[in-house]
Amino acid sequence: MDGMANNAAPKNGDPPFFLKEIYEQPSALAYTLAQFLGHNFQLKMNRPPLDDQSLRQVKKAYITACGTSYHAAMTARYLIEELAQIPTVVEPASECGCHHMLVDESTLAVAVSQSGRSPDTLAALDLARSRGAFTLAVVNESDSPLTEAAMGTLLTLAGKVQSKASTKAFTSQSLVLALLGLRLAQSRNLLRKEWRQEIESFSRIPEMIREALGKRELEPKAIEVAQFLNGYSQAFILARGHLLPMALEGALKLKEVARLHAEGYLAGEFGHGPLAMAGPQAPIIMFSFSDERDATCLALAFELKARGAPLILITEDGPKKDQALASIADIFLPLPQVPSRLRPMVAVIPLQLIAYHLGHVRGLDVDHPGGTLQPDVGRQAEGGPGLRKGNNGSMIHP
Ligand code: M6R
Repeated sequence: MDGMANNAAPKNGDPPFFLKEIYEQPSALAYTLAQFLGHNFQLKMNRPPLDDQSLRQVKKAYITACGTSYHAAMTARYLIEELAQIPTVVEPASECGCHHMLVDESTLAVAVSQSGRSPDTLAALDLARSRGAFTLAVVNESDSPLTEAAMGTLLTLAGKVQSKASTKAFTSQSLVLALLGLRLAQSRNLLRKEWRQEIESFSRIPEMIREALGKRELEPKAIEVAQFLNGYSQAFILARGHLLPMALEGALKLKEVARLHAEGYLAGEFGHGPLAMAGPQAPIIMFSFSDERDATCLALAFELKARGAPLILITEDGPKKDQALASIADIFLPLPQVPSRLRPMVAVIPLQLIAYHLGHVRGLDVDHPGGTLQPDVGRQAEGGPGLRKGNNGSMIHP
């Protein structure tokens, strides 16, 4: 719990699991990483043996999950397509049965789940397997129906998850999926020169998140943003490219934990209709990093400000470095400098903290938000209370 601001803990006892698990992310990531890092910058993925020959046969990746795990799945697309050059489809598991799932023997189908018990994720994995795909589970609960059903498993070692609202499982899943992207790239002899640098950079991620959490201004700023948002009934989080999953995840957390109607949106799409909503009543949270910032985002930020929207910028540049944005931002939320590829995993941290503090300010029970249709951790899927068998044999909630 190092680094947690004193004012974060409720006065009547231990901090909520949600907050505790936010601060457990550096160690969750360190454990998760350690199991895959071998000597000499090798990536060990031995359970199952993901050998070069089988991996080279993969022509397509199909990744599926629910909720927060789906947002982690989304992060994988950017890395698998960029590093391994394999076309990647990411789909919410609940949609998999709603259309013809295009997978075959040359598809690597990956199901991502903390509990390994989400009925839709299990059903999607079954469907992919029945169509001949090689199925892989990225899962935190090693003893779960998903690990039983999948042909191979990559574990996240996030430890016991007690908060309904997922944080450390999410960043651990994102990390495992990134390593899978690296492993796929390696099997194709891509990244030969950059390999060592990439592995070194990913192996620093626990430290980077520790630094983000320890950064002096981050939590006080998150508290400031939470207090500010408390006066509103809606907010938008805008992002581009690989930061979109973080915007969606931040919005999910704000809804789930703080009951704020928040929407994550692509910055480049916002001007195609939703802009009509912009104004003093709808604060905007925007990611803004100098090496990823482009004319679209800048123009949008100025347009939003002109319409009176309160603007909160999550950025690595302080207001001193960026005078233009400083002139329009209501609040700057500082993040440590990290390589662009690792940025999503760091950028989600302030959103998790804002969700916690807004929930806290609103007097909500952040550990029991009641917004998730997921089986309790440890509950047996087969025959467990509150579950029944669906038409396709998977377990669904009544
Ligand atoms: O256990 P799973 O990862 O399969 O659960 C999927 C979702 O229900 C879950 O990620 C949910 O969205 C989060 N707990 C919300 O914070």
